[in-house]
Amino acid sequence: MITIYKAKDYQEMSRRAANIIFAQVTLKPDCVLGLATGSTPVGAYRQLVEWYEKGELDFSGVTSVNLDEYKGLSGDNDQSYRYFMNRNLFDHINIDKSRTFVPDGLEGDSEKACAEYNQIIRSVGGIDLQLLGIGGNGHIGFNEPAEAFEPETHCVDLTESTIQANARFFERIEDVPKQAYTMGIKNIMSAKKILLIATGENKAEALYQSLYGKITPKVPASILQLHKDVTVVADEAALSRIIKERGELV
Ligand code: F6R
Repeated sequence: MITIYKAKDYQEMSRRAANIIFAQVTLKPDCVLGLATGSTPVGAYRQLVEWYEKGELDFSGVTSVNLDEYKGLSGDNDQSYRYFMNRNLFDHINIDKSRTFVPDGLEGDSEKACAEYNQIIRSVGGIDLQLLGIGGNGHIGFNEPAEAFEPETHCVDLTESTIQANARFFERIEDVPKQAYTMGIKNIMSAKKILLIATGENKAEALYQSLYGKITPKVPASILQLHKDVTVVADEAALSRIIKERGELV
């Protein structure tokens, strides 16, 4: 089941998303959070840090597993997703860093890296709440549009559009990694709850196709229609196509 919340702008989307994560950590202090990188969750992470600093949140029992990591980048490379998570969240809260997991970008053997990550997800007991952003092409994690859904952690060749979209984080287009390790669709769908966040007009079509279109690996996020507990928090611009087709959300 999918519940959609409309936020008026990025700030409200971030606060509402952070609220849901706040509730999860408060209700189950030893929960497992599935986390995402990218520009969409930055505001929610900032809000969580603020609440932590005010003494309203305690992450000491929390475990986290991130969706993905570029293959070939080390955790101290400032473009890696491990670095992003440290800088935007982990460095500012009292989470035990040894309980924060990101695929090992430096493991050159893809099969080994992916098997290890699947094992980590199993060993932490599965994900309580998985936070997701969405690509303009409907990707989740780095599960790009494809002929079939990939169930577990795998190594992907990034599409040209994703490489272009990520280029803003790198000095030169040649520096953008061409491959990544990502959780698969089964890993994501096994999470007890999913929180999908989206902002901006450029997500409107992908969001509409994902939530109301055909369920197909060509729009990876469309699989979320089959999950029993999905919350979408999106701003008006990201919801514009849905509102146009289906009317105002209540
Ligand atoms: C990041 C991830 C990606 C992003 C997506 C949206 O860990 O898994 O699927 O969520 O590319 O990125 P932004 O938020 O930068 O628009």
